Amino acid sequence: MNIDASATAQPGAHPIDREALRSLLRSAPKAELHIHIEGSLEPELIFKLAQRNGVALAYPSVEALRAAYAFTDLQSFLDIYYAGASVLLTEADFFDMAWAYFERAAADHVVHAELFFDPQTHTDRGVAIGVVINGLHRACQQAQAQLGISAGLILCFLRHLSEDAAITTLQAALPYRDQIIGVGLDSSERGHPPEKFARVFAQARALGLHAVAHAGEEGPPAYIESALDVLQVERIDHGVRCVESPALVARLAASRMPLTVCPLSNIKLCVYKTMADHQLPTLLAAGLCATINSDDPAYFGGYINHNFIATFDALPQLGVQEAWQLMRNSFEASFASDQAKAGWMAQLDEAFAAAR
Ligand code: ADE
Ligand code: ZN
Repeated sequence: MNIDASATAQPGAHPIDREALRSLLRSAPKAELHIHIEGSLEPELIFKLAQRNGVALAYPSVEALRAAYAFTDLQSFLDIYYAGASVLLTEADFFDMAWAYFERAAADHVVHAELFFDPQTHTDRGVAIGVVINGLHRACQQAQAQLGISAGLILCFLRHLSEDAAITTLQAALPYRDQIIGVGLDSSERGHPPEKFARVFAQARALGLHAVAHAGEEGPPAYIESALDVLQVERIDHGVRCVESPALVARLAASRMPLTVCPLSNIKLCVYKTMADHQLPTLLAAGLCATINSDDPAYFGGYINHNFIATFDALPQLGVQEAWQLMRNSFEASFASDQAKAGWMAQLDEAFAAAR
C-alpha cells in the first residue's frame, strides 16, 4: 500500500493512501452551496430542449458546442452560458434541467443542495418568473421525495444590469417567496461592486431571505468587504482573492464567514494557471470556513466529486483531515436547520471514522 504521510494532517490520525482518500471523497456525504442551475445544462440537454422548443442554436452539433467551451475569463464564459440558457422556455424545461442535476448530485453523495438561478436571464426573454420558479421548485420537491436530497433555491440578481431591474425582479418573485430561501449576486464582477445593490439586498433581508454574493472571484478584496459591510451577506461565493489582504483573511477566519470555492471553475476561467496554484490549502490553513463546489459543472468539466478529486490530486498537502473539514464546512455553511446539520455531521463522522 502506498502510504502518504501528507494524509496525516491531524496528530494521531491514521495514514491512508491516495486511492483510499479518493474513494472517501466520492462516498462521503456533502452539501453543495454554489451551483448555478443554468450552468448544469449539458450540451446534450441544450440540443434536446432546442429541438423540443424550436429554438435555433449557433452551433451545428453537441461536439461543436462543447468545443467552444474554451474560456479566457469570466465574461468569455458568461457570453456562451447566457446563449445556452436561451433554450429554456417552459416549466418542464426548468424541471428537466434541475432533475438532471439532482440525479448527478445523488451519485456524488450530495445530501443537501442550495441552487442559484438567474431569473432575469429568462424574464428578459419573455419567460414568466413563475414558470422558472415552479419548474425548479417541483424538481426540488422530487429530489427530496425520491433521492433524499434536501434542496433550496437562491434567486440571483445579474450585477451587469441595474439595481432597479433587480428590485423589479425581487418584486416579481414575491408571490413565490416561500419557494426561495435567499438572494445572491452573480454575473460580470469587475466594474459592478456589491454596493450597487445595497437597496435590493436590504429589501430581501427585510423579507427574511438569506443573502449571499459572488465577490473576489475576479474582483478585488474590497468587493468582499463591501459584500460583508453593505450587503450584509452570510456567505461569500468564491472569495479566493481574499488572500491578497491578510487583514481580510483574519476577519473571515474570526467570523467563520463561509467561502464557497469552485476549483475547476477557477482553472477554466483562468483565475489560476493550474490547480497546483490554487490557494485552497492556504485558506484552510488560515482557519477559513471554505467549501468545495462545482459552480457551472456542464461548462467547467465536472460535478462536485470531480472538483474534490481534481483538487486533492493536484495538491498533495490536502489530506484526510482537510477532506473531512471541507465537508463539515459545507454543512456548517448551509442554510439548513441546526437539527439537519447535526444529522449530516454525524453521518460524515461515521464515513470518516476509520480514516481519521
Ligand atoms: N454565473 C454563473 N457562473 C458564474 C460565475 N462563476 N461568476 C459569476 N457569475 C456566474
Ligand atoms: Zn458562481
